[in-house]
Amino acid sequence: MAFQKPKGTQDFLPGTVEIWQTVEQKAREMCRRFNYKEIRTPIFESTELFERGVGETTDVVEKEMYTFSDKGNRSMTLRPEGTAGAVRSYVENKLYGDPDVTKLYYIGPMFRYERPQAGRYRQFHQFGVEALGAVDPSLDAEIISLGYHFMKEIGLSGVLVEINSVGNADSRAAYRQTLLDFLTPMKETLCKDCQSRMERNPLRVLDCKVDQEKFGDAPSILDSLDEECATHFEKVKQLLSAMGVEYRINHRLVRGLDYYTHTAFEYKAQGIGAIDTVGGGGRYNGLVASIGGPDQPGIGFGLGMERIALLLEHQGISCNEQAPLDVYLVGLGEQAEDEVAKLLNQLRVAGIAAEKDYQGRKMKAQMKSAERMQARFAAILGEDEWSRGEIALKQLSTGEQRMVKLDELIQTIQQSS
Ligand code: HAM
Repeated sequence: MAFQKPKGTQDFLPGTVEIWQTVEQKAREMCRRFNYKEIRTPIFESTELFERGVGETTDVVEKEMYTFSDKGNRSMTLRPEGTAGAVRSYVENKLYGDPDVTKLYYIGPMFRYERPQAGRYRQFHQFGVEALGAVDPSLDAEIISLGYHFMKEIGLSGVLVEINSVGNADSRAAYRQTLLDFLTPMKETLCKDCQSRMERNPLRVLDCKVDQEKFGDAPSILDSLDEECATHFEKVKQLLSAMGVEYRINHRLVRGLDYYTHTAFEYKAQGIGAIDTVGGGGRYNGLVASIGGPDQPGIGFGLGMERIALLLEHQGISCNEQAPLDVYLVGLGEQAEDEVAKLLNQLRVAGIAAEKDYQGRKMKAQMKSAERMQARFAAILGEDEWSRGEIALKQLSTGEQRMVKLDELIQTIQQSS
């Protein structure tokens, strides 16, 4: 029986992978402009990091982690998200010692054991950013704007930002009680997860996928914010408007991970099947301390790359143009073979994208390959040409052909681009 890829994973083949390259290149370029530096952390970390960082009452930790014991009997987990690992690295490498704000980004695979559907996979990829070391609301606005303008610049339209404030510990304690007063009368009608979360972490109840429609009249967390939280939220909104970021307030947005404080946000768009979230993030002022670091605040986002690719497709935006091949070397006759191999290498080393036939095919088949690969030129080396130190150079778009000295081939191709 032939092998198949694991459920919930994807192969990205040539022809599709170019979309990913374009999106990744734009992400890197955007991060350069916003002054975020790349960080690469391990794909697996100790399970406890995610339990403590992401939170034990979240769906991610309760149901979705790929956890295994390694041969040393340590519990390890394939990273379900990027923030916990980036923050672990920030603490371990004492990046907080830098007098400036630490601004990081990453692009890479994440793993969640979820039920696969359009836009939801078990191995997926995130472009994420994290800024650590400042509570300034301008950093919140900067991060939200980065993601928003990134999606605009790759050509997506109709992306909207939803924002909320989940406050600080005091505001949340006040809200917890108000929310419990609302939830208690309906407790018996809620799912088992909700009932258990009501006791352990009532805010998480609002995140339930099963009982969502029962929470339409839930009290707003924004009414429980203390002055500090309310001022921070006002400032973020003001700055977003000034930056031209289209947003709307969603007071029920709690996000699926436990580390959030103050600003929480999501990027929404239609066109990813039943899913409408492209990415999300928020502040996490207690996370660094909760995993054993100093009391340093942070904020970031994670964007789902598969969802971005689906949106690009849905909106008919194609970015899978491959850089064309410069030249296809057509070799004729046994004597020319070695010369073709040598010449091909010389062209490539000189920076020219070049290809040849490897299957001993006739001229016609080789010319067809040159066309299929959309080469600009076919360079034909037969034994006669070779003995004269020349090669026939044919421009495939016009059909125009001329003889070029072998030692002038590189220069001729370079000058023609
Ligand atoms: P998250 O909301 O769990 O946040 O994930 C961010 C994005 O990753 C989602 O909006 C979605 O686009 C994508 N995503 C999540 N799960 C899947 C899946 N199973 N299949 C496909 N795409 C998926 C975080 O992960 C936080 N670390 C974001 C953050 C960074 N907050 C602060 N800093």
